[in-house]
Amino acid sequence: MSLIGKRVLLIIGGGIAAYKALELIREIAKRGGAVRCILTRAGAEFVTPLSVGSLSGEKVFTDLFSLTDEAEMGHIELSRSADIVVVAPATADLMAKMAHGLANDLASTSLLATDKQVLVAPAMNVRMWQHAATQRNLATLQQDGVTVIGPNDGVMACGEYGPGRMAEPSVIADAIETTLGSGSQPLHGRHILVTSGPTHEPIDPVRYIANRSSGKQGHAIAVAAARAGAQVTLVSGPVAIPDPVGVTTVHVETAAEMLAAVERSLPADIAVFCAAVADWRVEAQSVDKLKKTETGPPALALTPNPDILSTIAHRTTDRPALVIGFAAETTHVLDYARSKLDSKGCDLIIANDVGGDSGVMGGDLNTVHLVSKTGVDSWPRLSKAEVAERLVADFAVRLDAGSRK
Ligand code: CTP
Repeated sequence: MSLIGKRVLLIIGGGIAAYKALELIREIAKRGGAVRCILTRAGAEFVTPLSVGSLSGEKVFTDLFSLTDEAEMGHIELSRSADIVVVAPATADLMAKMAHGLANDLASTSLLATDKQVLVAPAMNVRMWQHAATQRNLATLQQDGVTVIGPNDGVMACGEYGPGRMAEPSVIADAIETTLGSGSQPLHGRHILVTSGPTHEPIDPVRYIANRSSGKQGHAIAVAAARAGAQVTLVSGPVAIPDPVGVTTVHVETAAEMLAAVERSLPADIAVFCAAVADWRVEAQSVDKLKKTETGPPALALTPNPDILSTIAHRTTDRPALVIGFAAETTHVLDYARSKLDSKGCDLIIANDVGGDSGVMGGDLNTVHLVSKTGVDSWPRLSKAEVAERLVADFAVRLDAGSRK
């Protein structure tokens, strides 16, 4: 629980995603935070003040001109007494009001009066999201320093597909934690570099070689490191998950691009190589699309990609104090991990069994073994987020121990 003692002012806009705001209240409470809610008039069409009040355990504020509300707590005080202001769902209308400084109801007035960090989780129809006006407003809000989470791609309540779904409550709660920098900060002042996701190695303009990696574990480590106070650079191959909040994400496609981005990001205190890098690329990428011919399939000559982990671990200048690799294996997990520890020259290998029915690739759970020169530490099956939290705590201890030597 790392929102202990924190107060969140949650503004619930009018959209079908308002039901997820109820889950967000529970998520914040579960992490030890207190939530006070403003429900807009439109929001109250989707969820009732009674359900919002029951979950938050606090009075729900709905009307700017309510004399009793003003007597109890004015809109200025309402927005200032919180540690952070969160708008979820943030409708196109609320975003437009925020971008233009309108203040004609309690929600918009509180947003204009606040001196706290504002975080918005947009949710709307895909066409509304893509409309030039909404995109202009989004850019204005970002320029104003508002943190924007999501929206995600997916099927909308209206049946259309595309960006517009509100980010998941747990992701919004993570962003609140990151923004507030709450919890202990064992990596404060440190720079952590993380690689994540697969690489794509082009064959021709439309085809590529890749591997199965969702990026979930690497991205979770980046989030956990940011929450632990680190400045985080995430070098990510192509993934379908959003960029984490509070992290600098560099998007790359190939192994060569990933190595170049990693080298540009040095120096770092810790480098975590979680990406599933393609071991080979096509020697001569075709400029034009390869066509089927009567002579049969083309012969693709492959050439090895640079080993990013090994390159960084063997650097003589700017080698991060802690270099960590991953070993996804299907057999002899610990033996292979030990030999990778040696051959790659890293300080620690996080080994996991991704074989058969483990469900690790693309799934949400992971069972890892920490293999170092001094031995093996095997952890139980945990969620990838929990693995990330624990790994980051472990890295911080190793970094401290190393710097005391
Ligand atoms: N790695 C890397 N650059 C590469 C290949 C791998 O940085 N070109 C890193 C991965 O990020 C991971 C570790 O090395 O931390 C995985 O080691 P690797 O030997 O590549 O694993 P596999 O590809 O599974 O190797 P093998 O096929 O030999 O098991």
